[in-house]
Amino acid sequence: MWGGRFTARPADLMQAINVSIGFDRRLAAQDLAGSRAHAAMLRNQGVITSADEAEIQKGLTAIEVEMAEGTFPFREEFEDIHMNVEARLRELIGPVAGRLHTARSRNDQVALDFRLWVRDACDRTMGQLKALQTALLARAEQHADTLMPGFTHLQPAQPVTFGHHLLAYVEMFGRDASRFADARARMNECPLGAAALAGSPFPIDRTQTAKALGFDRPTANSLDSVSDRDFALECLAAATLCGVHLSRLAEEIVIWTTPQFGFIRLSDAFTTGSSIMPQKKNPDAAELVRAKVGRLLGSFTQLTVVMKGLPLAYSKDMQEDKVPTFEAFDALELSLLAMAGMIGDLEPVQERMGPAAGAGFSTATDLADWLVRELDMPFRDAHHVTGQAVRMAETRNCGLADLPLADLQTLCQGITDDIYSVLTPMASATSRKSYGGTAPDQVRAQIARWTKALS
Ligand code: ARG
Repeated sequence: MWGGRFTARPADLMQAINVSIGFDRRLAAQDLAGSRAHAAMLRNQGVITSADEAEIQKGLTAIEVEMAEGTFPFREEFEDIHMNVEARLRELIGPVAGRLHTARSRNDQVALDFRLWVRDACDRTMGQLKALQTALLARAEQHADTLMPGFTHLQPAQPVTFGHHLLAYVEMFGRDASRFADARARMNECPLGAAALAGSPFPIDRTQTAKALGFDRPTANSLDSVSDRDFALECLAAATLCGVHLSRLAEEIVIWTTPQFGFIRLSDAFTTGSSIMPQKKNPDAAELVRAKVGRLLGSFTQLTVVMKGLPLAYSKDMQEDKVPTFEAFDALELSLLAMAGMIGDLEPVQERMGPAAGAGFSTATDLADWLVRELDMPFRDAHHVTGQAVRMAETRNCGLADLPLADLQTLCQGITDDIYSVLTPMASATSRKSYGGTAPDQVRAQIARWTKALS
């Protein structure tokens, strides 16, 4: 491509470090779309003739066919996807291919291609997040009344419903989706036409190409256009945070499937056996989802460090933007799909969750609240009395509801039989009707809100 200035071929090592076709071939579709829009604009602006444009578009169509059929020759000697396409175009249509690069540089070309790719990836991710939320909502609906222990410090705290627990993740993944939507809106400006770094002397119409490629507008500073990779970094940050959420849910699945918890069963579809221990059924998919956040944060870190301290405008360092970004979106996609699969697949074991919801004196707060409500006791005093009741039950190795009324009355005279009505896990959960609380009616209201939001 630059034979005019050079007399010798690059060293083999130069080619080895420079070549990017092995990974940037994933930008092929975006590169072709950009070239089509650019050629049409050049013709509309009278920079190239209609006949030349027709030839170029015909050649690009032929390349598209080759790519679809798997016969396109990706060649390392042409370094990257941009030069592979251009070289092939020249083979197919001759020297007129050389007119396509008028008013364009690989710098704005790669900025465009990569932005288009990340934009598509964002859209796919939002779809996958929505599918995961939909799977969670379906299970939450089935289990709006299914009791389980709610934990703090992983110690039994208060009874909640399984539906409520799942809805917590619907909220998290909703925030993740909105982060990708924000990033998408911000990135939706077209860098094409910034050319190498300073813009173009040709009478190009950047608004036309921006529109043709689905952008809201052209970018407003040519130097920034070719050197900005914020759009990818933002998505990697959003992906990392989403990975954190996925890892938390994955961890709960791992814990819940242990025989010690036994809260859920996973089918054979998302588990593996052991080559030596015949009894094993391991939650490998959940464990791998839990681990993927390492890749996601690694990718974010990698690209952040690549970009840090780069002077304006384009530097070849930026070629290192693609691998981490591709890897991150690949990992995120697999994780989201696998998680949606597991959520659809898992079966809560109510015989385990239900009794566990009442274990560990989980209705102690309800006892204290009763004292406040019925006897007008200050909460601190009620807390103290309840603490004594817990100690009493603990020494007798029984639950709070098993303590006889007479014994409870030794702790506080005013306690009546009515106290037992608040000591069941279901009464406890049902009473928590505050907005966003775990009462089944609240849970159903939130399911309805989300179902509407996602439709
Ligand atoms: N393969 C390059 C990249 O990914 C394309 C841009 C090359 N530009 C240049 N001036 N060498 O960044």
